Amino acid sequence: MKGLVAANLKMNLTGQQTLSLVKNYTKLIKKTRNDVVVCPSYTALHLVAPVIKKSKLHLGAQDIFYEQKGAFTGEISGALLKEFGCKFSIIGHSERRNYLKESDELVNLKVKGCLKAGITPILCVGEDAYSRDGGESFSFVEKQLRACIAGVEKKNIHKVAIAYEPIWALSTSANRRDITSREITQMHNYIRKILKDIYDVRTAAGVRILYGGSVNDQNIDEILKAENVNGVLVGAASLDAKKFARIIAAFDARKQ
Ligand code: PGA
Repeated sequence: MKGLVAANLKMNLTGQQTLSLVKNYTKLIKKTRNDVVVCPSYTALHLVAPVIKKSKLHLGAQDIFYEQKGAFTGEISGALLKEFGCKFSIIGHSERRNYLKESDELVNLKVKGCLKAGITPILCVGEDAYSRDGGESFSFVEKQLRACIAGVEKKNIHKVAIAYEPIWALSTSANRRDITSREITQMHNYIRKILKDIYDVRTAAGVRILYGGSVNDQNIDEILKAENVNGVLVGAASLDAKKFARIIAAFDARKQ
């Protein structure tokens, strides 16, 4: 299975800043055997799309609306994003769940909206510190995952990438803590097991499970020691082209 390394630029850069970052990416990332995806702000898509088209990188969005067209003021559909060559979209990021109160039901509609538009959803799940400390991380993630992929057919689930992003390990988390590769293994194996329960062993094995939460060029080797890590979703470190390129190199170098 091809790995997936995605840069979540969040709302950090202007169009010109994004363009210069992406140009630096393309200078440093000449080849890769994995899918490398850049998710800029919507307003930068038209600037970076031509640069990405000529490179080994793919374009992604940070969110989509679930309908394709119609009277939905302020929303952006998968169909519109495809115009720019977007092939991926982050869906259900914890920041959207927190600040915009996105529910599992809404996230589920967006996952299906992506599939309808032919866009690969990078579906984010992950518990907060409260659930982790209460020993409820597994039940929290299970509930979230089951609700967010409800109704996704067996023949389509391999088109969904699942990113485990524990909120307490994000670089922006107020009381951030480091996660161990053992903890990543436990959750990623658990996610694989849930997929096996819903679908079957073979189908579950075809789904990419990404880790996200303060991934950087210093901890990537440790993270890659964990089992069932088929990719990473990178926030802060992706704002530095050299760090992001080193993460991709480490991912390319790992034994599959
Ligand atoms: P981080 O962000 O790498 O800065 O922790 C990851 C994310 O929020 O997707």
